[in-house]
Amino acid sequence: MSGSNPDTDTSQTSSEHGGKAVLEGRGLTRTYRMGEVDVHALRGVDFSLLEGEFLVLVGASGSGKSTLMNILGGLDRPTEGTVRFRDKDLSRANDRQLTEFRRLHVGFVFQFYNLMPSLTARENVALVTEIARDPLSPAEALDMVGLGHRLDHFPSQLSGGEQQRVAVARAIAKRPEILLCDEPTGALDYRSGVVVLEVIERVNAELGTSTAVITHNAPISEMANRVVLLHDGQVDEIRVNESRTPASDIRW
Ligand SMILES: Nc1ncnc2c1ncn2[C@@H]1O[C@H](COP(=O)(O)OP(=O)(O)OP(=O)(O)O)[C@@H](O)[C@H]1O
Ligand SMILES: [Mg+2]
Repeated sequence: MSGSNPDTDTSQTSSEHGGKAVLEGRGLTRTYRMGEVDVHALRGVDFSLLEGEFLVLVGASGSGKSTLMNILGGLDRPTEGTVRFRDKDLSRANDRQLTEFRRLHVGFVFQFYNLMPSLTARENVALVTEIARDPLSPAEALDMVGLGHRLDHFPSQLSGGEQQRVAVARAIAKRPEILLCDEPTGALDYRSGVVVLEVIERVNAELGTSTAVITHNAPISEMANRVVLLHDGQVDEIRVNESRTPASDIRW
């Protein structure tokens, strides 16, 4: 991967928040060709995820949130623009390098938990820890999400919220620097959703994982250090929260 000068870049990426960018997108566009029609999912987005921050990304359905997150996490590539992970230019990475970036540095949590039904909670997490460099043990990761007493349960023996916490344990077990969550509470009732958010909050605080959470529940943005509002494929607003509301106090 080619990289530009990290020293210069650091000064450029220092934000109003005083942090250094772990991930940074510049001039991102993403166009999907649908037959004769171009769908402009992103139209020139500048975005950074800062070291250790808790960022919430909000916006209406179709505003480009998932598209942006998938590009930042190396699951997709922009049509135009650049993405950098620290001093590495991901837009120039080949497929193998992109896979390595994801494998080593990014944990993903999606709305649907995607656990293997035939494996226990511990075994689902072990799928990741077996190929990671310096992982938490599956038991440690599950303990961190409050499921130390459910190690040998199969997904069908867990509630939706518990399954999502297994998915969080799986995402963080490799100690990723970045945690990307796309509607992690989308399939959950309010109470289970809060517990999942508390777990994500704890991972951010205790492991220092730079975290971005996509949500359509505006109150969740009160948890964040910074809130980015997407509108029609563009950044509409970036807000810095002076104080953060703990997940346990969020209502929606
Ligand atoms: N694979 C695809 N092919 C064609 N168009 C797509 C594709 N993925 C997304 N789009 C379009 O790009 C736009 C942005 O989609 P995206 O999934 O990023 O929105 P979103 O903000 O995540 O929405 P939601 O809140 O509903 O998840 C939408 O108009 C969508 O229809
Ligand atoms: Mg989406």
